[in-house]
Amino acid sequence: MKKFIKIPLIVLGTIVLIAAIGLTYFNVRGIPKYEVNIPAEIQTTKVEVTAQRVARGEKIATVLCNGCHANSNNRLVGKHIGDLPKEFGKAYSLNITQDKEDGIGNWTDGELIYFLKTGIKRDGHFSPIMPKFPRMADEDVKSIVAYLHSDRYPVLATKGKQPAQEPSLLLKVLTNTVIKPIEIVKEPIYIPDSTNLVAFGKYVANDMIACYACHSKDFSKQDPLFPEKSLGFYGGGNGMPDLKGNIIYTSNLTFDEETGIAKYTEQQFIDAVKLCKKRDGTILRYPMIPHVTLTDYEVKAIYAYLKTIPKINNKI
Ligand code: HEC
Ligand code: HEC
Repeated sequence: MKKFIKIPLIVLGTIVLIAAIGLTYFNVRGIPKYEVNIPAEIQTTKVEVTAQRVARGEKIATVLCNGCHANSNNRLVGKHIGDLPKEFGKAYSLNITQDKEDGIGNWTDGELIYFLKTGIKRDGHFSPIMPKFPRMADEDVKSIVAYLHSDRYPVLATKGKQPAQEPSLLLKVLTNTVIKPIEIVKEPIYIPDSTNLVAFGKYVANDMIACYACHSKDFSKQDPLFPEKSLGFYGGGNGMPDLKGNIIYTSNLTFDEETGIAKYTEQQFIDAVKLCKKRDGTILRYPMIPHVTLTDYEVKAIYAYLKTIPKINNKI
């Protein structure tokens, strides 16, 4: 063989071989495990289950957890996540009822809080698909934990295990390279004073419900610790599958006159967020869900906050 063909062929062969070894390695290694490093003040947390916390926790979990974890009887026993993009493989949300074997009856409060904030389970297993809540106020995270420990119907001990997760090779490569657990915020996080409408709305939108995650440009170009740094912050256009696999693009929630929600009145905005009723009377499609448990005041606060963020001209 001529030299000028042979050398490129050797180089190419080497690259292919290295790539194959790398992919095989990631495939066998799977989603990496992490050291469980629960800060002492979280580790020793004992969440007192009060009626007030349970009510608040249920309100938050209804919009943040049930969609993925509830079965058709509204028990949080987990299920196949039907709207996960196929490229990531198959995922199942798990049984988070109080059952000691099939559910999370044996988890400590500290382990739960650590997992909700970082995505690292008590055995070091990392969950890339389950959302994380790193900036949710400590009291709100405790309310979710109180709700999980309560006597409310969805969380009562229930048998039932889900199949093992089936991450695709792509998800394995991503979790070995770019998708990582979220660093824990060590300082206390408080719910802002609700009389400061903009600050309160910012908290509800960014840190409690994370509206920005769907309503910014791209899931992979956002920083959960600094939501404002997300590409196309609230400018919409993030495409996501509905339950049939059709791609639905999120709306531009900035107050851009032409392409955003500047024409929405406060009441129309409340109807859109709580009832999924659009300004023109049509119904908003899944995965936008009716955020029924938010109060009108909370949604008004989100509206006031969105008015203050930079407008983005982005027609969806
Ligand atoms: C997008 C879907 C989704 C949402 C929303 C979601 N989860 Fe999950 N959850 C998952 C998946 C998927 C797993 C399994 C992760 C794994 O094992 O890799 C999981 C696992 C868990 C586990 C670990 C259970 C175990 O036995 O290992 C807990 C606890 C949990 N979720 C609680 C919650 C709570 C509380 C909320 C709401 C604040 C919530 N999840 C919202 C998808 C979701
Ligand atoms: C799981 C992803 C997701 C989350 C979280 C989410 N949305 Fe949406 N939202 C969507 C999608 C998708 C649409 C577009 C639906 C359609 O076109 O039918 C939408 C549409 C809207 C609209 C309609 C605007 C228009 O086009 O007229 C408003 C208002 C809205 N969302 C507000 C919110 C607020 C406020 C939050 C947080 C409390 C939120 N959304 C959280 C996915 C999401």
